[in-house]
Amino acid sequence: MTAVLELIEVGHVYPDGRAGMQHCSLRLRAAARHAILGANGAGKTTLLQHLNALLRPQAGQVHFQGQPIDYRRQGLQRVRQGVGLVFQNPDRQLFSANVYEDVSFGPLNLGLGELQVRHLVEQALLAVGMAEHVDRPVQELSFGQKKRVCIAGVLAMQPQVLLLDEPMAGLDADMQHDLTVLLDGLIDQGVTVVLTSHDVDFAYRWADDIHLLATGRCSASFPAADLPQHTEALRAAAQPLPIVLRLHAALAERGWIAEQTAPRSVEALLATLPPARTGIGHPFSSTLSEPRFL
Ligand SMILES: Nc1ncnc2c1ncn2[C@@H]1O[C@H](COP(=O)(O)OP(=O)(O)OP(=O)(O)O)[C@@H](O)[C@H]1O
Ligand SMILES: [Mg+2]
Repeated sequence: MTAVLELIEVGHVYPDGRAGMQHCSLRLRAAARHAILGANGAGKTTLLQHLNALLRPQAGQVHFQGQPIDYRRQGLQRVRQGVGLVFQNPDRQLFSANVYEDVSFGPLNLGLGELQVRHLVEQALLAVGMAEHVDRPVQELSFGQKKRVCIAGVLAMQPQVLLLDEPMAGLDADMQHDLTVLLDGLIDQGVTVVLTSHDVDFAYRWADDIHLLATGRCSASFPAADLPQHTEALRAAAQPLPIVLRLHAALAERGWIAEQTAPRSVEALLATLPPARTGIGHPFSSTLSEPRFL
């Protein structure tokens, strides 16, 4: 398996003595969907900041495309160009006066021509549904709109690896859906997507690989499809079991569905249920199937 990014025994202690990461080893295979799960303070943000070299490991190594990261100027430029990070808090990422300036900052810094930059900015803003806001001042945007602009800013750099720190938090349901479609499109183009989340249900249905963090340690990595075999590791990382697994187990226990392998989303589970019997007992059965005009 080729890993586009790899952490080897990485440790990081913040200046106040707090351990951000301890002996963390992790392999991220290319062109796959990776979800990193862990409780508040588990080290997810610290880990992402090591992956794009915003933080330098105090112990261990980070490899990008098979080579240890070179933390001198040129090496850092190579990593920052190839590995884009969308911050957890948009106010820490946005610093320009208006949306166009912010999204164009990265491509301009790469030395691209103005026409190409304009094209990249337009495409990135279209992708996150913010094209009509191109001239607006950043500080007037809502939280979710700021978050979309941050994502556009990183997309405009066309990174090989996209890191997103809790991208779904604060986005409405439509935008969450649009973002997963966008991420799937990037995966199809060979981009590696790594995101952190507190939503185990989303991680289970979306990810190819799940990585668990518990108090600064990379405690487990496994294919998302194998999650049902890792309930102990989930518990140790303070993660609940996905609701689809709990629902599936409860239905199978009562003999209402066959004991087949649980699907990975509630929608898929509902699709396996036998058809509803009409007209008997269910309080809504008549009103739902036969509209009545009063
Ligand atoms: N700048 C900092 N200075 C000191 N300690 C820090 C700093 N940033 C993070 N920490 C500590 O490092 C640990 C890991 O923090 P981190 O922000 O990586 O966690 P997280 O998993 O991203 O949490 P959350 O889910 O709340 O975003 C925590 O104990 C935190 O208090
Ligand atoms: Mg965080």
